[in-house]
Amino acid sequence: MADVEAALDQAGLTNPHVREYVRYWADLTGAERVEVISASDDARLAQEALDAGELLPAGEGLYYSRSYHKDTARSEERTIVATSNPEDAGAYNNWRPSSEMKPLLESKMRGASAGKTMYVVPYLMAPPGSPLEAYAAGVELTDSRTVVMHMIRMARVGIDYINDLADPNSFVRAVHVTGDLENLGHGTADDARYFVTVADERTILHFGSSYGGNALLGKIAHGLRQAAYDGWASGAFLSEQFMLLGITDKETGKKYHICGGFPSASGKTNLAMTLAPDALGDRYYVDFYGDDIAWLWVDENDGKLYGMNPEFGVFGVAKDTNEATNPGALHSVDAGSGAIFTNIAYNPKTQEVWWEGKTPNPPEDVTGWEDWKGELISERAEGDDSPWAHPNSRFTTTLSNVPNVAPDFNSPQGVPIDAIIFGGRTRDREPLIRAITDLAEGVYDGLTLGAEATFAAEGVDGQLRYDPMSMRPFMSYPEGSYAAHWLKIIGQAKELPLFAHVNWFQRGDDGRFLWPGYRENLRPLLWLMQLKAGEVSGRQTPVGIIPTKEELNLEGLDISPEDLDTILTIDNARWQQEIEHRDVHLSAFHGLPEEIWEAHRRVKADLEADA
Ligand code: GDP
Ligand code: PGA
Ligand code: MN
Ligand code: MN
Repeated sequence: MADVEAALDQAGLTNPHVREYVRYWADLTGAERVEVISASDDARLAQEALDAGELLPAGEGLYYSRSYHKDTARSEERTIVATSNPEDAGAYNNWRPSSEMKPLLESKMRGASAGKTMYVVPYLMAPPGSPLEAYAAGVELTDSRTVVMHMIRMARVGIDYINDLADPNSFVRAVHVTGDLENLGHGTADDARYFVTVADERTILHFGSSYGGNALLGKIAHGLRQAAYDGWASGAFLSEQFMLLGITDKETGKKYHICGGFPSASGKTNLAMTLAPDALGDRYYVDFYGDDIAWLWVDENDGKLYGMNPEFGVFGVAKDTNEATNPGALHSVDAGSGAIFTNIAYNPKTQEVWWEGKTPNPPEDVTGWEDWKGELISERAEGDDSPWAHPNSRFTTTLSNVPNVAPDFNSPQGVPIDAIIFGGRTRDREPLIRAITDLAEGVYDGLTLGAEATFAAEGVDGQLRYDPMSMRPFMSYPEGSYAAHWLKIIGQAKELPLFAHVNWFQRGDDGRFLWPGYRENLRPLLWLMQLKAGEVSGRQTPVGIIPTKEELNLEGLDISPEDLDTILTIDNARWQQEIEHRDVHLSAFHGLPEEIWEAHRRVKADLEADA
């Protein structure tokens, strides 16, 4: 048995509540050793992981990891939000009573870390000094060294964050036990995996995965699910799956901040890392604040809506990342960055890495190359053209490695929000951009976000589904209350943000994307900011204001006039069909505020009048 007291004393971990929590779980999981982690342990942990073969070298200061082949994405079906109040059940949060889930998870975790080290990872999901700091502290206990190394990149990790808490008992208890990955019955009726947030006890219990989205508990489980619940329970803030960026017009000196939600693997990271298109010269500059989570609140003193990124790193999709689509992402994983790659293709002889879309074709000389499962490419059967890298393969790097990271990314007060955008992979109907000025209509638009699901979750790739505000997999309280909480928080702002719906993914009959996307996505955002400033007026449609061709900056853009027409047009008949689906979708939400229904009926009536 681990000598817990000695390990905690040696690390100087003094918070009595944390000590008791560590003791309890060390005892229950049967861990052999306990080790308290600070970010400064990273180099030592990396060496240990390399020596143990858990990580492989991928060039100077770069690491390669493989996860178990059935453990490569978030599992939405196995994810549960538990509380002691049955009224917390919503359409999407897979609610279960905590009285049932806690004993079940304890039984799964009992003795499951025998022979292993239990790492104690104290972290903060906020820049220190943030007005929301009270909701940001947590302690992840994990039996995986690779998870610890990811946490050091993705969250601020250090013992001071929990020794010095204003309320020493106010931290999220986040327990991760990997389990015997090869014998968990993935996808069968006896699936043993459970990813549970006991929201009203601020306790997270995840069993049966070492994949980032399931195992880095500071990020999604605390940063999104728990924080969304806390924001609602306290009435103080929103936590959303949002990117957050700043656009500076160097000519006028104006800076705008935009945040917004697209479902997982639908372009948030790319948008926030976007550099201005070359064709626009160096007039505009994009600052990266965050790419996956934003917490939003209204400041009591100045009445403005603020947003901040609680994370400290980027967990990005590798596929199609290259010098043309996203040079910033490539440079954020340069030699010496400490980046960790997961489930891409790897050559142990040369320590090179590759993924689909990194270069137009895979390396010509396949000698030594292994696919994400570790199988030699040279031994593949004739005609086997399965991808070398897993579609959901990822890179993990700290924010300070991102070339366009905002100089003030670490500042506690956050940034004032000018616009909130929603989007996703929608192959028809949704135009390039449509702006919405009314609060209820903006919230309604978020609630009715419909898009194709992606490989970031198990078993749903390509499925068309509603994904309210892109929060479907992270919803932790009922949707009716969620809508009301949105109306309340944003409604407190003395100046409302502009809302918009964007779509970079409309396709032609031949399946090609009509809009070139990536860096060019800055163009519709510039139009949105001009609309906000009253410099353009667009064209009013029943579903929002869309840019005229003259207003959109098209300098140096490669798009045909026909395709441009298609993405700047509202297909009324198709939209009326969509409204019928929305009737059904919204009816599943109990207690949806009347303002949202009014917005729905207004859009419906406007579409009918415009037909
Ligand atoms: P996130 O998971 O929402 O952060 O999405 P990412 O930015 O990581 O992008 C997910 C996938 O979509 C990657 O394979 C990107 O290359 C691709 N992607 C991102 N933006 C665009 C775009 O504007 N157009 C197209 N066609 N693909 C994009
Ligand atoms: P993503 O982040 O949104 O960048 O894919 C991870 C996730 O949501 O699982
Ligand atoms: Mn995400
Ligand atoms: Mn991302």
